[in-house]
Amino acid sequence: MRNDIKQFAYTQPLPGLAATEALGARIAAGLGRGDAVALEGDLGAGKTALARAILRALGVSGAVPSPTFTLVQHYETPGLKVGHYDLYRIEDPAELDELGLDEALQEGAALIEWPERAAGRLPADALQVRLEAAGEGRLAWLAGPARWQRIFPERTDVR
Ligand SMILES: Nc1ncnc2c1ncn2[C@@H]1O[C@H](COP(=O)(O)OP(=O)(O)OP(=O)(O)O)[C@@H](O)[C@H]1O
Ligand SMILES: [Mg+2]
Repeated sequence: MRNDIKQFAYTQPLPGLAATEALGARIAAGLGRGDAVALEGDLGAGKTALARAILRALGVSGAVPSPTFTLVQHYETPGLKVGHYDLYRIEDPAELDELGLDEALQEGAALIEWPERAAGRLPADALQVRLEAAGEGRLAWLAGPARWQRIFPERTDVR
């Protein structure tokens, strides 16, 4: 549904990791099969920390290593399979086929660090999360389909 795309925007200060945890829990509450979350931001912006928060909220209790070298880590949470991708090291967007992104989205959800490297191969209805440094903490800027307003009703901006 193209008219459902990027109709929602939300900004949230993340002064510390506790705020990242809380944001992760909210994103987890809205996440379902077929959903992609594009985690944008410079090196060290807090993308893995937010992915970890989402996975923990979904019930992952063990370690959540950064997929820096493996490129993808797969999780089976009680209600949802989740693939956690880090595309920083891919050299060609075609590598996404080998990494099974389409299959991951058929079976569950995908959290994707460095989505810019995927060059337009991500679903158009991905929830986009941009993280920026703000003092000691971070600022999160979210945009995506209008259905995310259900999760973030308090400050939305339909453009
Ligand atoms: N909201 C926050 N406030 C303060 N520090 C944070 C916050 N979120 C993350 N950090 C810290 O920033 C550092 C980098 O975080 P993280 O590894 O998640 O970044 P990243 O964006 O995944 O980096 P990379 O591009 O290398 O994958 C970590 O030490 C983490 O604890
Ligand atoms: Mg990371």
